Amino acid sequence: MGSAPGRASPAAGTEVHISLQEQVALELRERELKRAKAENLLEVRNLSTHFFTPDGVVRAVDDVNFELGYGETVGLVGESGCGKSVTALSIARLVPDPPGKIVSGEITFEGRDVLKLPSDQMRRLRGKDIGFIFQDPVTSLNPTLTIGYQIAEPVRQHLGLSSRASSERVVELLAKVGIPRPRDRLNDYPHQFSGGMRQRVMIAIALSCDPKLLLADEPTTALDVTIQAQILELIRRLSEEFRTAVLLITHDLGIAAGMCDRINVMYAGRMVESGSVDNLFENPRMPYSWGLLDSLPRLDDVRGDRLRTIEGLPPLLINVPDACRFNPRCTYSREVCRDKEPEFTEREPGHLARCWGTQPDGWIP
Ligand SMILES: Nc1ncnc2c1ncn2[C@@H]1O[C@H](COP(=O)(O)OP(=O)(O)OP(=O)(O)O)[C@@H](O)[C@H]1O
Ligand SMILES: [Mg+2]
Repeated sequence: MGSAPGRASPAAGTEVHISLQEQVALELRERELKRAKAENLLEVRNLSTHFFTPDGVVRAVDDVNFELGYGETVGLVGESGCGKSVTALSIARLVPDPPGKIVSGEITFEGRDVLKLPSDQMRRLRGKDIGFIFQDPVTSLNPTLTIGYQIAEPVRQHLGLSSRASSERVVELLAKVGIPRPRDRLNDYPHQFSGGMRQRVMIAIALSCDPKLLLADEPTTALDVTIQAQILELIRRLSEEFRTAVLLITHDLGIAAGMCDRINVMYAGRMVESGSVDNLFENPRMPYSWGLLDSLPRLDDVRGDRLRTIEGLPPLLINVPDACRFNPRCTYSREVCRDKEPEFTEREPGHLARCWGTQPDGWIP
């Protein structure tokens, strides 16, 4: 890490200059302390984000709750269209409006209500404290600006580094994410990088200001398996080094299991199961999660059978009936599942599920 001068908040008119290295060391200590006290970095409470379309209201995220501790890696897993990206966009207040709107709920980041922050503070939070790896790296890098410029911009803006210090920081970040000969690549444009390299650049931008939270939305889709493993390893290493909390969004429960402390399963805009990786793998309490588990490749699958997929499709999120949203695809479904949606209830400490059948008086063992 470079030793470029940074600026601590001036106290009572005195300006104290400390190096970036010292700033980061202080920050890491603070994160460790908060982690030890088991404080949450992020709390999402009763979040609902809807899209107001000509066809009706799309309830993309519907009364969702979860939290993330300092330095913790938490997965958000589910099939396509279940509301994962919209959840992440809501946290960063980047939902396209119109047609989207966060219609209710609270998002607390370090005790501050994100939804009530004025837009300048929100921009700062987004640039500095919350890093975002977007699902589509091609559209999220500007094709007309050099890679060096695109990484240096947030660093100059949010860490207040001089242009020389920020370009040193860019070289250091590119090296950290595994770009060979980083100094020679500063003036290259995105199209001169391969898909995997562009993804690394996205990660470098997201991590440029040492964020406390990284929202990683499908950070490895569209990459081949080897590059995928390298990128995941990179995120894991960087999150350990900087105690960065990560919300890892993926449709792949296997990836989440390898990376996360806890996993949240989403279905049709709802949270349907949440617990530790052990809870999810050893005692899943929602048939949808069993479906996701069944579709994982297995080491004992010696015959090389094709992966099983869950039959049917998730429901449209317009005019959602008061019923278990998974019931049309669930082999255990009974009348009550069609009549009323189950609550999200605790099954063992820290393990919640939304299913009539696996409740204590339910019919599924
Ligand atoms: N701009 C938009 N206008 C209307 N509906 C939208 C918009 N963006 C998202 N949606 C709807 O919100 C729902 C949730 O979408 P979201 O992108 O969060 O899914 P996802 O879980 O991230 O899926 P994927 O795995 O394919 O990325 C979907 O039904 C989607 O059609
Ligand atoms: Mg998505």
